[in-house]
Amino acid sequence: MTDDLAAVMTHGDPFVPGDDLALYSAPLWRDTSLRGQAGVFAARFWDDDTPRLTAYEYQGLLQSRCAQRGALTCIGCHGMHEGNPRGQIRPVARGDGACTSCHAHLTGPAEIARHTRHNPAGPGARCVSCHMPRIVYGVLDAHPSHRIEIPDPARAIAARRPDACTLCHVDESRAWAVNARARLWPASTDAAATSAPSGASVGASRSDPFDDHLAPRDAIFAGDPVFRAVAVDAMGRAPVPSEPAAADRARHERAGALLDVMAGDRYPAVRHLAARALAGLIATRQPSVAQQASAFDATASEADRVRALAELRRGLSLPAASGPEAARITVLRAEAAQADIDIGE
Ligand code: HEC
Ligand code: HEC
Ligand code: HEC
Ligand code: HEC
Repeated sequence: MTDDLAAVMTHGDPFVPGDDLALYSAPLWRDTSLRGQAGVFAARFWDDDTPRLTAYEYQGLLQSRCAQRGALTCIGCHGMHEGNPRGQIRPVARGDGACTSCHAHLTGPAEIARHTRHNPAGPGARCVSCHMPRIVYGVLDAHPSHRIEIPDPARAIAARRPDACTLCHVDESRAWAVNARARLWPASTDAAATSAPSGASVGASRSDPFDDHLAPRDAIFAGDPVFRAVAVDAMGRAPVPSEPAAADRARHERAGALLDVMAGDRYPAVRHLAARALAGLIATRQPSVAQQASAFDATASEADRVRALAELRRGLSLPAASGPEAARITVLRAEAAQADIDIGE
């Protein structure tokens, strides 16, 4: 067993990629205890056991029907040698190809439009964006979940985790997402996906189905550090509306929120991701300010950060949050202050 560390250090790991990993090692879960101590691994999973740190991709895959009922393994998508350096994705598994090799009926624009209810050529119709959303934190980045599942904002709220819809529709509320999901897929075929998980694994205090503190636009202030990291990353990736005035408004609002994160978040990793998201958001419109945002040193002293931020605010014509907005952020941050954890352990 690879769990015997001393043996691994002496003889090497007996596991060879492609073998059945279950024969060599038992994965840890949210409720796994360490030397009799419970809860040590809990922060590595969302409330419904979905992994939220990298290095738990195997657990995610074990939870996926594609692996339970199909033959999906790591090397179906990843290749050490034929893969690209970023993500090591095999050529056959790039984009929708990762899925349509098995789900062959979901190919062609008409079929994709019918299935996704989105423009088949746009980002909203890519398989992984709905079924493997970036809700995993690791090494200063947000990564796709490897629990391949049906997107359901109501279930995500019950598990106090981000959902695929609002990670893209970052300006919208969770209520919007729940309603849109029900409207677009009125006869969802998957009963399990639309019912909330049993109360036992879900924090009772925060199961309000319209809890907006779990929408990325609020979670960037109110979430625990992993939620904040994932939510600020989404602010930089999410498409802006196609109508120009609405796009400018969205960019302006998101940039203001990201600057507030860079100014006040207690975690350097979250401040760093906010700076990167800001740079991505304004890259084409204001390339020189974007460059300044990229150069933002999230680990600099507070005085240096304040100076850098003042310059960025001038470049973007965005004054610091004030009045009701500042009060709202204070309330949300008070919630976050109770959820400090080590991230990236
Ligand atoms: C259905 C396809 C698919 C399968 C199967 C799959 N992955 Fe991934 N994996 C991805 C995609 C897509 C990414 C994101 C790559 C990117 O960010 O460009 C990713 C990213 C990762 C990352 C983050 C690294 C990075 O650079 O983003 C790790 C680690 C990882 N996968 C490990 C695994 C392991 C271990 C398994 C098997 C237990 C596995 N994957 C199975 C598609 C898959
Ligand atoms: C190796 C084949 C294979 C690959 C590749 C694959 N799947 Fe699957 N998938 C399956 C099988 C088999 C099932 C179970 C079907 C059933 O229950 O009848 C399944 C089920 C699903 C379900 C239903 C899950 C649920 O909880 O009801 C979704 C959603 C899904 N796959 C999406 C994807 C997406 C998205 C990708 C690419 C990222 C993908 N699959 C890649 C084989 C695969
Ligand atoms: C990867 C990004 C992405 C994801 C994930 C995504 N969408 Fe969208 N969505 C878009 C884009 C872009 C549009 C614009 C029109 C289009 O592309 O179809 C859109 C349009 C819409 C619209 C119509 C326009 C509007 O804003 O009222 C609705 C409703 C919608 N999406 C709901 C959802 C729901 C519900 C989910 C989750 C199941 C979801 N979307 C997941 C990107 C996304
Ligand atoms: C905008 C979000 C969205 C995108 C993008 C998306 N799906 Fe889905 N998918 C859903 C929803 C919602 C359901 C459950 C509703 C239903 O059963 O019709 C679902 C269900 C499924 C299922 C299980 C039921 C079935 O139809 O077999 C599979 C498999 C699946 N999707 C594969 C894919 C593949 C492959 C792609 C890429 C071509 C994709 N999905 C893109 C939202 C999405």
